[in-house]
Order: sequence, then structure tokens, then C-alpha cells
Amino acid sequence: MFSKRFKWSLESNRFARVIEAKKKSGARILDLTESNPTRAGFDYPVEEILGALAQTPAMLYEPAPRGLLLARDAVAGYYAERGFNVDPERIHLTASTSEAYSYLFKLLADHGQSVLVPQPSYPLFEFLAALEGVELHPYELSYAHPAGWRIDFDSVEKAIDANTRAIILVSPNNPTGSFVKLGEVERLNAICARHNLALIADEVFGDYGFRDDESRAGSLVSNNSVLTFVMSGFSKILALPQMKLGWIVTNGPADLRDEAVERLDFIADTFLSVGAPVQHAAPSWLRLRRELQNQILDRARGNLNWLGNVTEGAPLRLLNVEGGWCATLELPRYFTEEEWALALLEKDDVLAHPGYFYDFPREAFLVLSLLPRAEIFREAVNRILARVG
Ligand SMILES: Cc1ncc(COP(=O)(O)O)c(C=O)c1O
Repeated sequence: MFSKRFKWSLESNRFARVIEAKKKSGARILDLTESNPTRAGFDYPVEEILGALAQTPAMLYEPAPRGLLLARDAVAGYYAERGFNVDPERIHLTASTSEAYSYLFKLLADHGQSVLVPQPSYPLFEFLAALEGVELHPYELSYAHPAGWRIDFDSVEKAIDANTRAIILVSPNNPTGSFVKLGEVERLNAICARHNLALIADEVFGDYGFRDDESRAGSLVSNNSVLTFVMSGFSKILALPQMKLGWIVTNGPADLRDEAVERLDFIADTFLSVGAPVQHAAPSWLRLRRELQNQILDRARGNLNWLGNVTEGAPLRLLNVEGGWCATLELPRYFTEEEWALALLEKDDVLAHPGYFYDFPREAFLVLSLLPRAEIFREAVNRILARVG
């Protein structure tokens, strides 16, 4: 009856069952997997946000595959503030970054063809790709302490075959928090040119760097030597995932770029999925960017600095993190990460993601969200430290 693209079990996993039982028994779980900013106690200017949705022009239905010009102008303005010149005619608005991925997979890959994805990285790729009939070939990010994560280019070359259509990079990556470096972009461009591949850059966490770094590549919206798609959206930039606005910026050699834009017009025109009120609200919402981002950056930096201090001398290691909303701990390997995570949940009421959730290639990692309030974060980390001993 159902398509083979859906290949997942509908059974809940062991973590979900333990959480359910805990909640039923009234336990208070300290949740270090919380990545939903609207539940993390930030101060949103509610009236301004909701007020911007009630604009009379939103009563007009103006179907436009790229999205309304006033919203695309606002997105171009966001890049201009960061020093990048983006032509609004190369922007396609989408309902989310996830939808942007699905458009790009439809644009670039036939059934059974593949795209390269970083490992470790964001687990939704598996679902986004499979639902489009696209295969994922991982390439590795390799960690050296304390320098941090870098792309393992040998693994990139090995992952490419005749069916590969694109390389995805996430900068900064979720959950490693590593930004792509200038030299890495150069090498990626050379590889893409040599194998006729597109570059897809997910920059949703691009505004959340913890410190300046000259070796870091800026946004790839200016990358024009190969066909390049940059994605971002309000779910992270404005911490408003419920408002559903993302986008794709297309760049590259002019002919290829223009053809890609026209083909994307066709795909987007088939769905026209972005609502008018959200598009009309986009210019006012983007003016709130600093106010919202500063709260998140302060929280994430505060939690990270504290984590750095308390883990010094402990029998675990905080990995280098340059930005984003997560930190990674490497735990002693006398238990697997699944055992660590289950023990923390069952015995300490602390929920954290084991590394395999993000496809860490070996044991034993625990990924912590940096978004929880300091008191929750500290209590949870203290319990982890006590358990590790
Ligand atoms: C790296 C990365 N890209 C994309 C997304 C999805 O964003 P959106 O809510 O815009 O679909 C997430 C969500 O956590 C993410 O971590």
C-alpha cells in the first residue's frame, strides 16, 4: 500500500519510552536536548512580532514563485548588513530550510543519485533525502584537540562517484559547531568544478559564532565559481521556527545560475508554500534580529564558558566549539554512549543526545544543547559530572 521511500519503524525508541514513563511518574527531566528556542525562556517582543502579521496587504493573494519582493528585499538587506551583496532575484523563499533542501534535491538529483553530507551532522538529512529518493554519502569531519573540526578531504574524494550531484556543508555545523574555513571552501570549489557538482551551504546558525576568526569563510552567497545554493531561515536567525520562513540564495557561473533560478521558479510555483502574512511581516521581524540573537548568544556563551571551567580536570573532554547552539562532551569509553545517555536519563533525570544520533563515527559522545537556562544547564551538567565520577 505504501511507498518504499518510507523505511522507518513507527515504534517509539527506548529513550522515548523511558521519557514517557518518567513523565507519567511526575519526574522533572532536565532536558539538554532542548533546541526549541520558544521553550527556552527568551524574551520575545510578542506584540511587535504578532502585530506585524496583521497587515492589510496580506489579504491579497499574489502568487509569486520566488516569494514577494518586499520579503526578498528584506532578506537581501539582512545579507547587506553582514557585508554581502545579494540580488533579490536570486532568492527563493520557502516555508523552512528543510523545505529548501527538498527543493534542491528535486532540482539536482534523480532517484538513486546521491549528495554528500558531513558526518557528524544534523539527523534530519536522512529523512529529507530518503523522502526525495536521494541517497546520502557521508564525508567525515575530523577532530583534533584543541584545534577543532576540519573537513577530511580524502573522505570527500572517496565518497564521490558517478552518481554524486552535490556536496552539502553546514556552517557552523550542527552539532560540532565548526565553521567552514576559507581554505576549505577553495578546495570544495575545486572538487565541485572537477566533478561537476553543486555546493549546498546550510548557514542557519551563521550568526551564532562565539568569537571572530579570520580563517573562517563568510557566507557562501558570494561564491560564484561553482553552482552554489545557500540556505537559511527564521527558525534560527530570529529564533522563530513556528513562523515558517526560509530561503535559498543561488549563485554560480551566470548561465548555470540563471537556469537553476528558473528551474527553482518552476518547483516553487508548484507549491507556493509561504503564507502572505509571514512575508509581509518579514521586514519588521528582521529588525528584531540583534535583540533576539544577543539573548541567545549570551545564554549559549555563558553556558559554554561555565562548561569549559567545570570540565577542566574532569575525566571527560569538552570538544572545541566555534558557534551554534550545542556543545559536545567526549566521555570515557568504559560505557557506550547509549549506556551513558540511558543511565543519565534513568538514574539522574538528565536527557542528552548520544553521539550516534548525529552519526559520530565512534564512541562515546554526548551532545548538549546550550539553550537551556543557566540553572537547568548547570544542574544537569553537575549530575553528568557526578555520574562520570
Ligand atoms: C543545520 C540545520 N539546518 C536546518 C534546520 C532546519 O531548519 P528549519 O526549521 O528552517 O527547517 C536545522 C534545525 O535544527 C538545523 O539544525
